[in-house]
Amino acid sequence: MSIVVANWKMNGNVFLVKQFVHRLNEIEAISKIIVCPPAALLGNFENFKHFIGAQNCFYEESGAFTGENSPKLLKELGCGYVLLGHSERRAIFHESDEMICQKWRAAVKQSLQPIICVGEKLEERGNWKDVLGHQLKNYVGHCDQNDTIFAYEPVWSIGTGIVPSASELGAVVSFLKEKLPRSALLYGGSVNAKNAGEIMGIKGVDGVLVGGASLQIDEFENIIKMVS
Ligand code: 13P
Repeated sequence: MSIVVANWKMNGNVFLVKQFVHRLNEIEAISKIIVCPPAALLGNFENFKHFIGAQNCFYEESGAFTGENSPKLLKELGCGYVLLGHSERRAIFHESDEMICQKWRAAVKQSLQPIICVGEKLEERGNWKDVLGHQLKNYVGHCDQNDTIFAYEPVWSIGTGIVPSASELGAVVSFLKEKLPRSALLYGGSVNAKNAGEIMGIKGVDGVLVGGASLQIDEFENIIKMVS
């Protein structure tokens, strides 16, 4: 089954969430739809007929960690998934591969399915194999691949409108699939309704992770149609 994940990078618009939930509930999708809002908005998904995920979690189950959300808490709030290692978390919040791996362990323990994001920066573009190999070293051979989704998000593609060519993406996807043959693999980075069909046509791509375009409900509905 193909997968469409929305990473709602939104703050402070509860009304919009309610509108989106209503619209998405009307969609009869063949794909699995997973919406990941900021944690503060997770309480607005009552009667949502698709899936919800968190954008991050902490690696401890309980304790005094002001401002953090444990996998257990997220699970109780209805999350089935959690994005981990998004490039914004890595760059802005200085999350290391080790910390992301700790979070991954904590999430799996609570049966919260992790979506691990990997991707090279613009200056690493010629060196993507080494970068991705390094980011994946804690999972290849260590994770139950059926329980973990991976998302390839080249940092240079996020929010830029630039997507890798079909041959570039095909090469990366076959490299990743060789390492993680049983995990679902998503592509993320400037996905829209125009390019979603071509991206889904690349062998090994199981779905898309959508940022900006997921906040435009008509566009997001069209992406879902292209992916299904
Ligand atoms: P854009 O779709 O806005 O490029 O963002 C991608 C992303 O970061 C999804 O996690």
